[in-house]
Amino acid sequence: MTEAQFIPKPYTSLPESGTVSWNSPSNIALVKYWGKHGEQLPKNASISFTLSNCLTTTKLIYQRENTNTFNFEVFLDGKRELGFEPKILKFFERVEVYLPFLKQFSFKIETSNSFPHSSGIASSASGMSALACCLVDMERSMCDTEMTEEFFKQKASFLARLGSGSACRSIEGDLIVWGEHKDIEGSSDLFGIKYPYPVHENFKNYCDTILLVDKGEKQVSSTVGHNLMHEHPFAEQRFQQANNNLEKLKSVLERGNLSEFINIVESEALSLHAMMLTSMPYFILMKPATLEIINKIWAFRKKHKSNLCFTLDAGANVHVLYPANEKVMVRKFIENDLSVNCKNGEFIHDHSGNGSEKI
Ligand code: DP6
Repeated sequence: MTEAQFIPKPYTSLPESGTVSWNSPSNIALVKYWGKHGEQLPKNASISFTLSNCLTTTKLIYQRENTNTFNFEVFLDGKRELGFEPKILKFFERVEVYLPFLKQFSFKIETSNSFPHSSGIASSASGMSALACCLVDMERSMCDTEMTEEFFKQKASFLARLGSGSACRSIEGDLIVWGEHKDIEGSSDLFGIKYPYPVHENFKNYCDTILLVDKGEKQVSSTVGHNLMHEHPFAEQRFQQANNNLEKLKSVLERGNLSEFINIVESEALSLHAMMLTSMPYFILMKPATLEIINKIWAFRKKHKSNLCFTLDAGANVHVLYPANEKVMVRKFIENDLSVNCKNGEFIHDHSGNGSEKI
């Protein structure tokens, strides 16, 4: 696939008005995307579990209007959210060539999240993937030839990527690869694909409890962090490390090797934050509670011979990952010992899921 394949043929008819709604989940990367080039192209391949409960719900209400400009308003939980509009405008500008109807409508984008905005839970991933699904669904209703389900997902992922890189991994589940990788057939820099190889039972319905350490706005956005990889002294080694880790994960996923899974996943999380510590300017997104939680997880794992582990995104929150058969034991540990390190004792239980859904 190339970019050109996402440019549609002229539409036969444009509707006067309509509404379309989608739910889309967040995702948690096991091998991290950190560093990009060109138009939202990743410097290395990444893989993630799609989540289930951490969702964005987006309703797109459209009305025919030929103003020849982008005409939209964004509402978060029913209130106009001007803060989101520059990002959506940039997104519309980027995707206009692939969705040439955009300037012929006015849009009301009503969105809500099941989790705090800008908390390090990838609200841009769920938000941009939900919006991309709404737009491709709208386009589908204007095409005279039928759009296959496969093309729908590819185009939604392709567009979501142009909004936020990690968003392209939220359209489907439960394991998604984004970025061309020599050992993963069909992998592409342009969109996410379902992980195409056998996955052991151990990794089915994998659990992720997100510990909300810090619910405030991040001090450094992901976009700024990605850009700092351009002049980064360890960039090339990091991109190589990520691709090697994805290669190693292939047999780990097939054999159900939980201890090797833990090594790769925790090393990826710490390597991601090591890139932040060694950027210029450098920055730290972890908080003291993040480190306390990590130490408690390590102690618990040793003491109980458990297979829980942690990962981090670009924030202070900790994702606690564990196999479904350890759910009772790990959740008790989270409630009794880890919730004290969370802001207002808050955490969200989630697990791997299947991606975006039309409402
Ligand atoms: C640390 O997808 O938020 O979560 O493409 O600039 O929108 P943009 O960045 P974004 O980066 C998230 C990176 C990460 C790791 C990951 O999800 O792979």
